[in-house]
Amino acid sequence: MGELKEEKATSYPKTSQNKVAIIGATGYGGLQSVRLLESHPDFLITYLGGKRSAGKRWSEVCPFTSITQNLEICDAVPEKIADSADFAILSLPNGEASQLVPELLDRNVRVVDLSADYRYRSLTHWSQVYVQESLKFKRGDHDLCKEAVYGLPEWKQHEISEARLVASPGCFPTASLLALLPFLNQGLVENEGIIIDAKTGTSGGGRIPKEAMLLAEASEAISPYGVIGHRHTSEIEQLSSEVAGKLIQLQFTPHLVPMVRGLLSTVYCRLRDPGLTAEDCNTVLEAIYKDYPTVEVLPVGRYPSTKWVRNTNKVMLSVQVDNRTSRLILMSAVDNLVKGQAGQAIQSLNIMAGLPLERGLPLETYYP
Ligand SMILES: NC(=O)c1ccc[n+]([C@@H]2O[C@H](COP(=O)([O-])OP(=O)(O)OC[C@H]3O[C@@H](n4cnc5c(N)ncnc54)[C@H](OP(=O)(O)O)[C@@H]3O)[C@@H](O)[C@H]2O)c1
Repeated sequence: MGELKEEKATSYPKTSQNKVAIIGATGYGGLQSVRLLESHPDFLITYLGGKRSAGKRWSEVCPFTSITQNLEICDAVPEKIADSADFAILSLPNGEASQLVPELLDRNVRVVDLSADYRYRSLTHWSQVYVQESLKFKRGDHDLCKEAVYGLPEWKQHEISEARLVASPGCFPTASLLALLPFLNQGLVENEGIIIDAKTGTSGGGRIPKEAMLLAEASEAISPYGVIGHRHTSEIEQLSSEVAGKLIQLQFTPHLVPMVRGLLSTVYCRLRDPGLTAEDCNTVLEAIYKDYPTVEVLPVGRYPSTKWVRNTNKVMLSVQVDNRTSRLILMSAVDNLVKGQAGQAIQSLNIMAGLPLERGLPLETYYP
């Protein structure tokens, strides 16, 4: 279990004692969570969980980022996590969170899970999409799948504020949904024929080694993967259908590009009113997101770059309209590990703790 003994002084005052456990701390999502919460004024990291790294001090495994209490990384034991923390961020391979969440909730730990385990409204739906994981992990937590709140903070703020369990969205759904939902919500686009073409950097695959992510494989190349039936398709369709009030089926094709972090999603839809201009559509986005500093809508004619949001918890959106084809083109850039993963999870933690949703999160990049 992690020690709470201070090894060096903090450089800022911690204003509250919202204690957080980060499980999967040495993975990419865990590392961002550590980095962001360590400099957050309202949260204190009190427990670090891992598997291969368990038993080691943080500084031994991750010497490149320091934390105030050089905690020992421990096995993910629910009783011990509950003794140390009020909140837990779970940043684990798919399926693993489901083995911890019921026991954590029973012990009054509020959870933000970064995996897909609770993103679907039913366990059956999850089992259909995550087939291999459903064979590996025994689950009977139907009720928790129903109870979990899909943690897209700009669309679910109220539900998140009261949630015990938040299922943080995937990186592709985050970028794609933030662009698309305003138009589905207002009935401005047709429900059929939506196409999402998206690109991500290699950190999207996580820190556990995979052949496709080797430098020799991924560098100097761009390639599609998961064409037809990528797991994030169903996740995007689920919230799109809820917001549109009708079943939405869409085409989603991801691509791997040779960069470490960053994700760009381009969404094509057909406008119901062919007379709408790009300026009209920009006004729609600006109106919907006016109270959210985590969303920046670019002026018409400026298109986002992943570099403009690198290391930030911001999504950058842009619209264009081709009146020849009546197509609305939406462009959306995020850092897949921050707004697409750990930063967004901390947005949810902020809301759960009654704080402004952008509290403690970086919104400006260091360019280039
Ligand atoms: N990468 C992205 O862009 C992204 C974006 C959004 C959502 N997500 C989702 O976020 C989750 C984490 O992704 P990631 O990319 O951060 O993964 P990752 O880099 O592969 O890290 C996974 C972490 O899980 C830990 N772990 C594995 N099994 C464990 C167990 N039984 N008990 C405790 N710890 C265990 C590992 O710790 P040890 O090394 O100590 O074994 C490792 O730190 C995934 O579900 C992923 O789908 C990822």
